[in-house]
Amino acid sequence: MPVPIALSTHGPQFSRLVAGVMTWGVWGHDLSARAIGKLIDTCLEVGITTFDHADIYGHYTTEAAFGAALRHRQGWRQQMQLISKCGIRLVCPQRPENTLKSYDLRKDYIIASAEQSLRNLGTDYLDLLLVHRPSPLMQADEVAAAIAQLKSQGKVLHFGVSNFTPSQFDYLHSVTPLVTNQVKASLLHFEPCFDGTFDQCLQHRIRPMAWSPLGGLFGRTDEAALRTADKLAEIGAYYDSPGADLLLLAWLLHHPAGILPVLGTTRPERLQAVVKALAIELTDEHWFALLEAARGREVA
Ligand SMILES: NC(=O)c1ccc[n+]([C@@H]2O[C@H](COP(=O)([O-])OP(=O)(O)OC[C@H]3O[C@@H](n4cnc5c(N)ncnc54)[C@H](OP(=O)(O)O)[C@@H]3O)[C@@H](O)[C@H]2O)c1
Repeated sequence: MPVPIALSTHGPQFSRLVAGVMTWGVWGHDLSARAIGKLIDTCLEVGITTFDHADIYGHYTTEAAFGAALRHRQGWRQQMQLISKCGIRLVCPQRPENTLKSYDLRKDYIIASAEQSLRNLGTDYLDLLLVHRPSPLMQADEVAAAIAQLKSQGKVLHFGVSNFTPSQFDYLHSVTPLVTNQVKASLLHFEPCFDGTFDQCLQHRIRPMAWSPLGGLFGRTDEAALRTADKLAEIGAYYDSPGADLLLLAWLLHHPAGILPVLGTTRPERLQAVVKALAIELTDEHWFALLEAARGREVA
């Protein structure tokens, strides 16, 4: 069973692979409570104990679907860690007061959103709350005040951000400690390796999380994707051909920032298989060969 790892020197302790629930509800597979329960069981069985939510998933319905699947279980909360996100206002029937898609990082909105996530999930604390997207109107002191209140009440244990540039991260981190930056990252979206995002995590001794860790490879037919798929097959031969998805994860796991991939699959058999990616030890040469294939050119 994979051992939990610390996201920062002060925690939290998460599983190295995180289950993303974005498509478990009506934004994807619209799983029944029973199917959600089975998927959670599969995750826990293989040591994936951290679940990535956002208030908006399923137009504000997926947290509640997840919570409903666990309602009658004893002791479930101690077995897992829950992440949620806040700060995006979507226009949808569930939020008639939202008339325009926008960001809202005012103190009252952050607190109300986190408290709603707690009610939806049926828990009294989140292990981690993330600001989902940076807002150009963000005032760091206002966000910090919200987080201070949520933390003092024990409703949020740790705080972080998602999709922040390094300068946006610095601005907020200067007034409230951030334990992660969850960003889009994969072999097919390698920019965080070069734009300072991962360097900043190393500098602050925090771990980034990577959403879309497979880079959409399986649905793509563009040249970069085809080149990458060929190289994954070629290099996979050195590692007992584990499959492209496992090698894509191994590529992220090899980075010294200690990235936590957030997995999007809804298939139990894939969740069982991907854990084997943790045992693949890519060589630096293979890491660069894959990068070269994805970029279409060698490093300078
Ligand atoms: N912070 C943010 O702004 C943000 C944004 C987007 C997402 N996220 C988080 O990141 C999570 C994961 O994102 P993602 O869905 O883009 O992740 P992903 O793991 O890169 O992609 C998942 C998709 O790949 C398919 N897939 C997986 N393994 C496959 C294989 N071996 N062959 C063919 N298809 C395969 C899955 O289909 P099956 O289900 O059929 O396996 C699913 O459609 C989300 O659930 C959410 O929690 C965060």
